[in-house]
Amino acid sequence: MSHDLHDERILILDFGSQYTQLIARRIRELNVYCEIHPYNRTIQFIKAFNPQGIILSGGPASVYDEVAPALDPALLSLNVPILGICYGMQALSFHLHGKVSRAAKREYGRATIRILGDNPLFFGIEPEIEVWMSHGDHIETLPEGFLTVATSANSPHAAIQHSTKPIFGVQFHPEVVHTPRGKDILRNFAFRICSCHGLWTMKSFLESTVSEIQSRVAEKHVMCGVSGGVDSTVTAVLIHQAIGDHLHCIFVNNGVLRKNEAEKVVDTFRNSFHINLVYVDASERFLKKLEGVVDPETKRKIIGNEFIYVFEEQAHALGSLDFLAQGTLYPDVIESISFKGPSATIKSHHNVGGLPEKMKMTLIEPLKELFKDEVREVGKELGIDDEMLFRQPFPGPGLAVRILGSVTEERLDILREADQIVLTEMKRSGWYGKVWQSFAVLLPVKTVGVMGDERTYENVIALRVVQSMDGMTANWVQLPYDLLGRISNRIINEVKGVNRVVYDISSKPPSTIEWE
Ligand code: XMP
Repeated sequence: MSHDLHDERILILDFGSQYTQLIARRIRELNVYCEIHPYNRTIQFIKAFNPQGIILSGGPASVYDEVAPALDPALLSLNVPILGICYGMQALSFHLHGKVSRAAKREYGRATIRILGDNPLFFGIEPEIEVWMSHGDHIETLPEGFLTVATSANSPHAAIQHSTKPIFGVQFHPEVVHTPRGKDILRNFAFRICSCHGLWTMKSFLESTVSEIQSRVAEKHVMCGVSGGVDSTVTAVLIHQAIGDHLHCIFVNNGVLRKNEAEKVVDTFRNSFHINLVYVDASERFLKKLEGVVDPETKRKIIGNEFIYVFEEQAHALGSLDFLAQGTLYPDVIESISFKGPSATIKSHHNVGGLPEKMKMTLIEPLKELFKDEVREVGKELGIDDEMLFRQPFPGPGLAVRILGSVTEERLDILREADQIVLTEMKRSGWYGKVWQSFAVLLPVKTVGVMGDERTYENVIALRVVQSMDGMTANWVQLPYDLLGRISNRIINEVKGVNRVVYDISSKPPSTIEWE
């Protein structure tokens, strides 16, 4: 029997947990397709989705809160296996008339659970395992028809199961790395309980997406803006695989790119990928608009708007193309359907937002079902090298938001040189791939220094190196002193106009990753 890779799918109902995306990533790593939807999707929607299993995520609420996200009891009569995690399990118990109560003290951190007897959820797992707990409420009395299948010192019902139906609940979080056997528990749920086979592989995704694009585009043409970043590159190479020369990429040099970046992107696209690429050096235009501008939001707006103007002109010059390709990823889709609503804009993000509506083109977003690690895997399948696939993120407004104060050619040169040294030393020491981002920022102050017998009065570079899962929160990285020393020495010795380097030791929140 032939299977479509979307044939088996798990539905994750989101009750607001910070870990919901992690649940989805773990399930995808098991080669099972899954989607995250708000907890209040209708039963009709869920039936049409036709899931092989349903996971109820955790969430910050208490079932007793006035606005607690409620579980639709009709879910339980669908005859689809269900796994409730933390709040998801409490919501299950509450709606089945079990008793949920406030624990005397909030349980947060590692705990040991004892598994009682045989159970498909814990198949192949030793009787005592370490898990990660994070809850205030817990189940005091089980709903009718349920059994306790694991206990812990603080949670008498650390895992529960219905005696006849495939309905399970765990008080702990199997999706986090602090539950070392968590992935095996989710594997048991997906494969033993929901009978999935593991059809979701990036090889099969690639095959099906290529043929889908071929039939959708047929003899028409696709335009794609590229930046040199991972998402737009994988989008372009994938579409190129499907339609070859019917793809037309546009790369705009906005004047605030890193050293040699434009040359590298042009060379890679034309000479390695053999993709049609229109290269637009609009540096002068952007820098003229940025002249004397100090306010960070104004810089972002200028770059965002100018990008749209330049892109539109180029698109116009290419003639009327039918499709516009974008490297939208699944987390952007989740954000847009999240029941919490898109989070407030703290900084306006410039990418190609707003373009498709303005240009009246049909969108093609081949990566919109994928998480970043899946995009990298697809990239690998497409033969893109690791150096490209494991690049750190780089903001659309580029070095303009890393030069505090006004952006000039002279200041751009200073930052480009410093940035290059940071990049080289991070790569040479093996730290580049271990952190989320590492970069230099040029501050708008000068400090006194001494070089030889001369007093100097020059610029300060701040070094920013952070660790993060998704850019939403971040910690500064404790880089080894010798590496910090090497970077500082090289910048001060080699970059003309800099006599001091400082290290940024702030985390996000309350700071942000970029300085503007
Ligand atoms: P912040 O500074 O908000 O950055 O903590 C979070 C992450 O987003 C990146 N960033 C951007 N990415 N366009 C982008 O594509 C932008 O305008 C933009 N601004 C910030 C930033 O580098 C970090 O990874």
